[in-house]
Amino acid sequence: MLILNKTAGVVFKTSKRKVHEFLQSFNFHPGTQFFHKIVLGIETSCDDTAAAVVDETGNVLGEAIHSQTQVHLKTGGIIPPVAQQLHRENIQRIVQEALSASRVSPGELSAIATTTKPGLALSLGVGLSFSLQLVDQLKKPFIPIHHMEAHALTIRLTNKVEFPFLVLLISGGHCLLALVQGVSDFLLLGKSLDIAPGDMLDKVARRLSLTKHPECSTMSGGKAIEHLAKQGNPFNFDIKPAMQRAKNCDFSFTGLQHIIDKIIMQKEKEEGVEKGHILSSAADIAATVQHTTACHIVKRTHRAILFCKQRDLLPQRNAVLVVSGGVASNLYIRRALEILTNATKCTLLCPPPRLCTDNGIMIAWNGIERLRAGLGILHDVEGIRYEPKCPLGVDISKEVEEAAIKVPRLKMKI
Ligand code: KG4
Ligand code: ZN
Repeated sequence: MLILNKTAGVVFKTSKRKVHEFLQSFNFHPGTQFFHKIVLGIETSCDDTAAAVVDETGNVLGEAIHSQTQVHLKTGGIIPPVAQQLHRENIQRIVQEALSASRVSPGELSAIATTTKPGLALSLGVGLSFSLQLVDQLKKPFIPIHHMEAHALTIRLTNKVEFPFLVLLISGGHCLLALVQGVSDFLLLGKSLDIAPGDMLDKVARRLSLTKHPECSTMSGGKAIEHLAKQGNPFNFDIKPAMQRAKNCDFSFTGLQHIIDKIIMQKEKEEGVEKGHILSSAADIAATVQHTTACHIVKRTHRAILFCKQRDLLPQRNAVLVVSGGVASNLYIRRALEILTNATKCTLLCPPPRLCTDNGIMIAWNGIERLRAGLGILHDVEGIRYEPKCPLGVDISKEVEEAAIKVPRLKMKI
């Protein structure tokens, strides 16, 4: 069992007595009978330490999360050893809180599911080693979880969605379009060739010093941009959309980031404002970057819908587009995607905001999906490793590019 030594800040193995005390600390209800599968999910792939207990019917029995956002906002980005240390400090408490809230004793769990790929190596390591100790003590099956697959399948916890469906994952670390054909059957249609949209929005927010803005000081970069954009004009600057000529479903955001950087420098000169202070044109810049991002995401997703319909990979009517990840909580981007789904006769579904960002529920739910499908359930964890880099599904992006589908223009009156 892992117990944190708070003074030294390291995780180490404890005695059998401590393990016993840890397991005894949960409410145990000898009279309670569970007739269905129950999974404990653990997530530490990036900057959230999260755990949840979910049953086969999708009931969230208990959950807990410790977010590191405020710490990383102060340091201007995630510093992996800092994230690792915070995971170490919080994992036991978070798992304990989720289990206690669920009123399920550890012995009643059907399996333990943990994110093992992709993510920050140091962060993944904390969740995996904690989970393996727990698996060993409780003699439970272990289910390694792909973080992006978990994001993609979360919608099946909240809505009745059958396979196949299209998923757009947009967050701080990921940006991809995939066709979900089954619990572990994904076709990758496109991805970002450089950074993810959330990362780009975070960088622009940092360059605009939005943590110094009284209305956005505690918000993530993307949320701060969305908030400020409401007061700005998205059409004050003339910006060409990215990858106009590439007839694929890939994305790119560094070009936009550099254009915005140049605009900020220009505005600092014009307004006589020093770097690190708030520009009077900050709201217009936020509105511009948000609008350009929305249009780029819509264009690539539009091509993915047309490609899937052309190949009969999706039904012609009422095909489902699921949008998830931290950036999916942006209502402007959602409205832009709604224009697209209305035009293509698709249905747009987004998990509720707390399930769009990283959480333990999606990991536990993916464990349930895998248990039900009998996929990837390990009874022997010998040699199991985390994988910081791990593609999602089978990459067919070249095939998409070869189809060279021309996307009709959509009126983006958002
Ligand atoms: O999914 P998430 O919690 O973590 C991963 O990146 O995996 O997403 C966090 C990202 C951050 O980049 C944050 O700035 C962005 O999602 N984000 C937003 C909004 N809320 C969070 N981006 C745009 N608009 C928002 N309202
Ligand atoms: Zn995520």
